[in-house]
Parts: sequence; structure tokens; C-alpha cells
Amino acid sequence: MRSVYRLLPHIARHRAAFVGTLVSNLLAQSGLLALALLGAALVSQALAGRDSTVAVLATALPATAVLCALATWRESHVSHDLAYRVLADLRGRVFTALRRSLPTRHTARRSGDLGAVALSDVETLEWLYAHTAAQLLVSLTMLGATTALSVALSPWLVLTWLPCLLVVVALPWLFGPVSARHGARLTAANAALQADVVDTVQGMRELTGAGALERRRRQLARATRALTREQSRIAHLGGAEAAVSSLAVAAAGMAALAMVASGTGGLDPRLAPVALTLATVTLGPISQISALLRDFGVLRAAAERVDQVLNTPPAVPRPTRSLGPVTGALTFERVGFRYTESGPPVLEDVSFTVHPGEIVALVGPSGSGKSTCVALALRLWDPDTGTVRIGGVDLRDLDDTHLRSAVAAVPQRIDLLTGTVRDNIALADPDATPARIRDAALRAGVLDPASGFRDGLDTHVAERGQALSGGQRARVALARALLRNAPVLVLDEAMAQVDAHAEAALQSVLRREAAGRAVLVVAHRDTTIRAADRVLTLRGGTIREEGPRAPRAAP
Ligand SMILES: Nc1ncnc2c1ncn2[C@@H]1O[C@H](COP(=O)(O)OP(=O)(O)O)[C@@H](O)[C@H]1O
Ligand SMILES: [Mg+2]
Repeated sequence: MRSVYRLLPHIARHRAAFVGTLVSNLLAQSGLLALALLGAALVSQALAGRDSTVAVLATALPATAVLCALATWRESHVSHDLAYRVLADLRGRVFTALRRSLPTRHTARRSGDLGAVALSDVETLEWLYAHTAAQLLVSLTMLGATTALSVALSPWLVLTWLPCLLVVVALPWLFGPVSARHGARLTAANAALQADVVDTVQGMRELTGAGALERRRRQLARATRALTREQSRIAHLGGAEAAVSSLAVAAAGMAALAMVASGTGGLDPRLAPVALTLATVTLGPISQISALLRDFGVLRAAAERVDQVLNTPPAVPRPTRSLGPVTGALTFERVGFRYTESGPPVLEDVSFTVHPGEIVALVGPSGSGKSTCVALALRLWDPDTGTVRIGGVDLRDLDDTHLRSAVAAVPQRIDLLTGTVRDNIALADPDATPARIRDAALRAGVLDPASGFRDGLDTHVAERGQALSGGQRARVALARALLRNAPVLVLDEAMAQVDAHAEAALQSVLRREAAGRAVLVVAHRDTTIRAADRVLTLRGGTIREEGPRAPRAAP
């Protein structure tokens, strides 16, 4: 519930649109009330034989109908305008929160699940902003108006609809817990299905290769059926509520007629149509609120998921003071790190320095924490103990811009985006001039004929770089890193996927680039290791060996 309230203030930045929604909704609802009452009054007056009044009412009726239609149309426009502005804002905030909080070192959420938060959960909130917030306020106002009219006509009339009103009001409370449960289940099933679909599409090759596609298809079909079952449960529940609510409205009408017929309250029988109308329309706004609350379970579940993402703490806190720009050596000083509080320590006491002008190889068995060191050098996370410094400055004292310009990296898993090779290199610096992009590409060997990019920088890169060879990806990623021109360059197994020829070419690139900058290379291959100036071996959470040009890598 609190998560829904917390999402309401997002309306505040669009006050004009909210007031517009409020006013047009008020006009539309008053118009509807006026129409019903005018119609009833017309019948009453006709029964009384007051022809002149009938003529006036007969003119007022269509005019009101036109105004009512205009107000309804206007409301639909402004309320959706409001909702989609708020949603656009909210999506921006969700993306910012994801950027700040990813990568999480604890529970990695599935990408499809996060996509569901940013897209479908935010979309569900449309209903809160376009159809609930303003409407709730107006419905309460209308209830006040109809109560006053009822009392003016006869206080007894209030008694005819009050019990029915209580039934309608009680419905959301009675059904609330069940509806919340269904809503949470539906939203979870929907997010799980989206995550499965994303996984399936991304893993299509592997699934096909392993002959697992058919099994996967059946699994998706099952998940879809589970989702449909949840939806139909919610529809059943909603239908039952709607039926009870309609019954209550009918009962109120009959009670009003019975009151007039029995002469209670001394109401003129010719006013029966007005009494009947008033009793039923009074319940209108309330049953509308109750209809709005009917889907509250789904709304609440979506709101909780959005709220949770918005309030995820950032992966690393912002610096309390901002130093930089920095240049100089990369230093790990007694660094300790674990992924979860209860988990095993990955790094325990890691200290080393990479000086400008040198290439240092970091080796160690798989799972020994090499990639973790790379992540810490990029400040994806902070070490639990010890410090990582560049040029003597703690990374925690660098703001985002200075940090990004201090370290550039070629990650172990290279992700390329759909576009050209040029676009992919330029990601590192959107303001880079064409000449600088070309220069970085040249230095990384992207433009060598041997690298096989047919159209040079204009070569198209398919989604996630699928059509490129390992060597090609490595070159693009290296060019991307070189464009940064950072004093520290880190490569995580960049050579692992390239052939011997490409490796030799990349070695000489590195040697050239190492002039004036500190280069740390996570490596497996002997050739890469031999080309380094020093070798560090990571094992059991510490750096065990350190010596110039160690002859062999750890097994
Ligand atoms: N996001 C993570 N959450 C929990 N444990 C992780 C995570 N990433 C890596 N690890 C664990 O940390 C250890 C070191 O991993 P990593 O730095 O990737 O090793 P290397 O790169 O040397 O192969 C491994 O035991 C791995 O299972
Ligand atoms: Mg690794």
C-alpha cells in the first residue's frame, strides 16, 4: 500500500495536467448526474402536466448531453496526457536506478525481469495516474453533492441507499486480500514469463544446438497457461464483485420506489422518478471507486516492484569529496572482498602496483578472483577492506566522470550493440571527433585488412556482436577502451578468444600503448604472459608470486 502512496507524488511535477484532469472529470461526472436528474425531473413534470417546465427541461437535456460528451472527451485526453508524462518520468527514474544499482553483487536479477519492471509494471501504473487518482477525489465530491440533494428531497431517501452504499464500500475491503494475492501472483507470473522469453531468445543458438528448443517451447507454453489461469481468476473475482455492486444499486432503486409508494417521508408520488434516480446515481461514484479498487491487487504488485527498483541502493556510494582528474599507477592495497556477507572471501589480502609504462600480467586458476580485481579497478563495487588507488587517489574519491576517464577496460565478456563498428567504438565517448575514433580504431588494428572488417568503420554489427569473430570483438572493444585515453588500461582475458596471428598483432598494440600508461592484463596464454613485464599470480585470495617475467602461468 505504501508503495502506491509513494508513487503518487510523481504527479506533482505535472500539476497543470492533474488539475485539468480533475476539472474535466468533475464536469463530466456532474454532467452525468445532471442528465439523470433532468431526465427524471422531465418525467415528473410531465406527469404533473406542467408543459412550460417540460419545454425548458427538454431544451436543457440535449445541451447538457453535449457538454457532458465534450467534458468526457476532454477528460480522456488530459488524463492520458498526464499519465503518459508521469510514466515517461518514471521510466527515466527506473533506468537511472538500474544504472546506479547494477551490477548488484548479491542477487543478480534476470534481465527480462528488470525489463518487465521498466516496461509492463510501469505501464500498469497508467491506470493509477489516468483513471484513479483524480477520479477518486471527484467521486467523493459527487457523493457529497448527491447526499445533499437526497437530504433536501427527503431525509428518508438517504436511508434507502445508505445500506446498499455500505455493501458497495465493503466490497473492496472484503475482496482486498484475495485480490492482492492474485495481483502479486499475476505480476510475478508475467515477469517470470518475460524473463523466460528473453532467456530463450538470447539462448536460441545454444538451445537449438543442445536439442532443447522443443522442451523450452513446452515450458513457455506451460508458463503462458499459468498466466492465463491467474488472469481468469482475477476476472472471476472482478465479475463477482461487479455483480454484487450492480445488485446493490438495483436494491437502492427499489427501496426508493417502495419508500415513495408507502408514503414514508410524505414525498409526492410524482417525484418517484427523481427519488429513484437519486438513490441509484448516489451509488454510482462509489461503485466506480469500488470498480477502480477491484484491480488494486495488480496495481499494488506493480507499484511494489517499481518502488523496489527505485529504492535499490546504489552499487557504490557517491564520493563525499571529489578529487581528480588523476593519472599514475594502479595500486591495490591489502584489498579484501566477498560477494555476499555470508559467502566465502574471494580476495583476502591483495596488494600490487602497476606502474605507468609497464604491462603486468595477472594469472591464476579459474575462479581465483581475477575478474573480480578488474571489477574493483573499475569501481563496479568497493572492496570490503583495503583500498584501490590510481595515482595515489582512492577510487572512492573520484566522481563518475573522473573515474571513467581514469580507467578503461576490455571486459572478459565483450558486449557489442547493434549498429556500426564506429558506433560501438564511440560508445566510450559520444563527443569524440571522427578523427579520434579513426585513430583509436587504427591503434587497435580494427582497420588492418587482416582483421576482416569488410566495410571498415562502417561494418555493421549485428545484435550483441553475434556475427563477429572473437578477434574482431576484441579489437572493437580495445578500440573502445583506447578512445578513452585513460592512464590505466585493464584487459580481462582479451586474448583468450583470438587466434595466434591476431594475438601477436594485439601484443604489439599493447606494447605501444603501454608507453606512459599502466596496463594490467588478465591472461591464460603463455605467449601473453611472456610478453608482460611482470607476472602476478592470484591464488587463495592473495597474490602469491610476483616476479619479473615468470616463465610459466599457474595451471
Ligand atoms: N556476481 C557474483 N556473485 C557471487 N559470486 C561471484 C560473482 N562473480 C564471481 N563470483 C565468484 O567469485 C570467485 C571469483 O570469480 P572471478 O573473479 O570471476 O574469477 P576469475 O576471473 O579468476 O575466473 C568465483 O568463485 C566466482 O564463483
Ligand atoms: Mg574471469
